[in-house]
Amino acid sequence: MRVKGVLLFLLALGSFSAYYIYEPIPEEIEERWKLMLTNSFFRSLSHLADLSELLGLKDYMGVMYIITVAERVVPLSDEQVLVTERRFDGVEVVLYQPSRRAADAELRRAVIYLHGGGWCLGSSRMSPYDLLARQLATELNAVVLSVEYRLAPAHHFPVPYEDVYRVVKHFLQRGVLAQYSVDPGRIAVSGDSAGGNLAAAVSQQLQQEPVQQVQLKVQALLYPVLQALDLNTPSYQQNQNMPILPRTLMVRFWSEYFTSDKSLFRAMMSNTHNSPESASLLKFVNWSAFLPESYRVKYNYSTPAVLQGAGAAAAEGAPDSEADQERPSRSLADPRASPLLVPDATLRTLPKAYVLTCEYDVLRDDGVMYVTRLRAAGVEVTHEHYETGFHGALMFNVWPTDFLIARRMTDNYIRWLKDNL
Ligand SMILES: *[C@@H]1O[C@H](CO)[C@@H](O)[C@H](O)[C@H]1NC(C)=O
Ligand SMILES: *[C@@H]1O[C@H](CO)[C@@H](O)[C@H](O)[C@H]1NC(C)=O
Repeated sequence: MRVKGVLLFLLALGSFSAYYIYEPIPEEIEERWKLMLTNSFFRSLSHLADLSELLGLKDYMGVMYIITVAERVVPLSDEQVLVTERRFDGVEVVLYQPSRRAADAELRRAVIYLHGGGWCLGSSRMSPYDLLARQLATELNAVVLSVEYRLAPAHHFPVPYEDVYRVVKHFLQRGVLAQYSVDPGRIAVSGDSAGGNLAAAVSQQLQQEPVQQVQLKVQALLYPVLQALDLNTPSYQQNQNMPILPRTLMVRFWSEYFTSDKSLFRAMMSNTHNSPESASLLKFVNWSAFLPESYRVKYNYSTPAVLQGAGAAAAEGAPDSEADQERPSRSLADPRASPLLVPDATLRTLPKAYVLTCEYDVLRDDGVMYVTRLRAAGVEVTHEHYETGFHGALMFNVWPTDFLIARRMTDNYIRWLKDNL
């Protein structure tokens, strides 16, 4: 309860700064005042983080990580769910198993869940994720595996992705599934925001491995991040100052995922980060081709600038393998970071998908473009778009920052899993 107190105090502190409250939040968003207060807290923290980095005290993400710490709980078993912490192939996971005794030979569904937080923040042990995992376990009678993948900037791409991949490969072995009474035909991968990115990437990877016997039945992506090539899509433009994820923060997440070299952040801010390596893939994120007209009319498409040597700065003069691994131009063209970058032939084999998008979200168009491309490739997709939704809404399911829309989203998402998993 002490952390709750700290959070409340910070929230109050934020709300005192009247300046922050005059953010233009669209009229149609529900519980507007509550979102303004919540956002003022996040903005205050972000300014504090900037200041701290400027003064050389602690880097930006280090300060932002306070939210993760403040919301951390110890995942405990209760009457309905048995919670244990494990390591799967060396990677930490929190495992939720329904305690209701399985009937004879009854096999359960499983959900592999990947939390959000821009690959830099968040934890399966944050109370909103703990709560969601319990709900999934009880309502679906499912085993839920919440993956504690390592985070940037301490661990740049591809480490977070590879942690997830290792857990999934370990779990999808028949022997391991049997140990947890999981039906190999009823396994989902799911995640929100950066977790949706990891879920989409790992789904693609598994389909490309003919030796992978157990496959995923569905993928459920909640306002996912799906591409780093064009950071000026109409939704990036329309929602650049929207809570909880302004464009600057999303660009910061992307650049920190790839490298600690600040030049990538600056290039991404002006959308001039593409190199010849990624330029050939721009056709896969061409919003003038993949967005419905209603989203395009107010904006004119222009192909992002391609600069020779862009994004290569980090590797310059350091040809050793570690720097090369981190070469942003290579990461930018890697579909494990931007799942939208694969050709249609790769999409065609993907499992049935659920994609949630929000109108007031810089990432809206990433999700919408994926829906368009998956459908064109013949994949069955359920697309739920929330006209009054904002990024991160699902996380706001715990008092005092509980939003009605979070409840609706969670209910609809779980209902879809009930019907399709
Ligand atoms: C994007 O699509 C438009 C047509 O919708 C086309 O004119 C343009 O050349 C495309 N650009 C890229 C980079 O694919
Ligand atoms: C888009 O281009 C047209 C024609 O060049 C121009 O009239 C219009 O103002 C542009 N719209 C925006 C939002 O830039």
